[in-house]
Amino acid sequence: MTGKEPIGPHVPVLVEEILEGLRVREGCVYLDGTVGAGGHCEAILASCRSARVIGMDRDPSALAAARERLEKYRDRVTLIHGNFRDLDEVLDSIEVACVDGIILDLGVSSMHLDLPERGFSFLRNGPLDMRMDPSGGQPAWEIVNNWSAGDLARILFRFGEEKRARDIAAAIVRERKREPIMTTGRLAEMVAAVPGMAKVRNIHPATRTFQALRIQVNGELEAIEKGVVKGIERLNPGGRMAVISFHSLEDRIVKRGFREAENPCRCPRSLPMCVCGLQSLGRVVTRTPVIPSEREKETNPRSRSGKLRIFEKKEASR
Ligand SMILES: C[S@@+](CC[C@H](N)C(=O)[O-])C[C@H]1O[C@@H](n2cnc3c(N)ncnc32)[C@H](O)[C@@H]1O
Repeated sequence: MTGKEPIGPHVPVLVEEILEGLRVREGCVYLDGTVGAGGHCEAILASCRSARVIGMDRDPSALAAARERLEKYRDRVTLIHGNFRDLDEVLDSIEVACVDGIILDLGVSSMHLDLPERGFSFLRNGPLDMRMDPSGGQPAWEIVNNWSAGDLARILFRFGEEKRARDIAAAIVRERKREPIMTTGRLAEMVAAVPGMAKVRNIHPATRTFQALRIQVNGELEAIEKGVVKGIERLNPGGRMAVISFHSLEDRIVKRGFREAENPCRCPRSLPMCVCGLQSLGRVVTRTPVIPSEREKETNPRSRSGKLRIFEKKEASR
C-alpha cells in the first residue's frame, strides 16, 4: 500500500441489520439523516415498493451523489440539505411532522476520505479543511494555526483520546511559527515526527489528531446529542431510530441518549415514587450493540468498528 490507492465507492454498513432493525414496511416514511452516497436509502427503497425516504446530508456533494444513485426511485425520495442536529427544522420545512423510522450512519464517508481536496485524509495530501459542509464554518487550518497550545491539547485529548495531546499541541505551535500549517500532509508528517508517536499495529500516528480536528470542525458530538433527542421526538408511535457509530465517543452519546429516553426520571433513588413527571419515551431495543459479521468485516474493512443501536418509540396510550 502506498496510501494513494482509491478507497473506492462507499459500501454501506450493516444493511440487513438496519432493514430488520427499522422493521421497514410498505407505506411508511423514513428519514435517512446521513444519506451520503445513498446506500442505506437505496436498500430501504428497494425493499418496499411504497416506502418513502427523506434523505438529508450536510454535504451538498453527497446529496449530488445520492441523487444520481437514487434516480430510479425519484418519486419516493426527497433529498434535502441539512444537519441532523436541526432535523426538527428540516422536517418542518417540508411539512413532515413525524416519520416511522430514522437512520443515522455517523461520521465521514469513503468519498470524503478519497478526495484529497476535502482535507480529511492523512494519506492524501490536500488543504487542511475537513468541513463536511464547505459552505460554512471554520476549516481545520484555522484551528491549527490560531488556537493556543492549551486549547489544541484539550481537543486532541477530548475528541481524539490522544495520550500525547500536549506534546502534539506544542509541536504544532512550534512548527506554525516557521510557516503556517496548511496541508494534511504537513500536519500528518509533523505529528508522526513527535517523539513516541511510532506507528502502532499499522495505525498511522496522526489518526487520533485527525479524528479530533474533524470532530471539532464539524461539531460532530453536539450534533449527535441533539439529533438523537430530536429524532426520538419526531418518531411516530412504534417507530424506530437506528444509529451506527464508529468510535467510542459517538457510541457513548448514542447509548446515553437512548437510555435517558427510556428512563428520563430525575428523581433521587431515595424517593419511593417518581415526582419529576418525566415519562419514558420508549425502549432500547439493543441492550448490546449489533456489530458486523466476520464476513462483513472482511469484505468491507470500514465496517470493522461499526456499532448499531436501536430505540423504539412507545405506542400511543389508548
Ligand atoms: C458514513 S456516511 C453515510 C453513508 C450512507 N449511509 C450510505 O449508505 O451511503 C455519513 C454521511 O453523513 C453526513 N453527515 C455527517 N454528519 C452529519 C450531520 N450532522 N448532519 C447531516 N449529515 C451528516 C456526511 O456528510 C456523510 O455524507
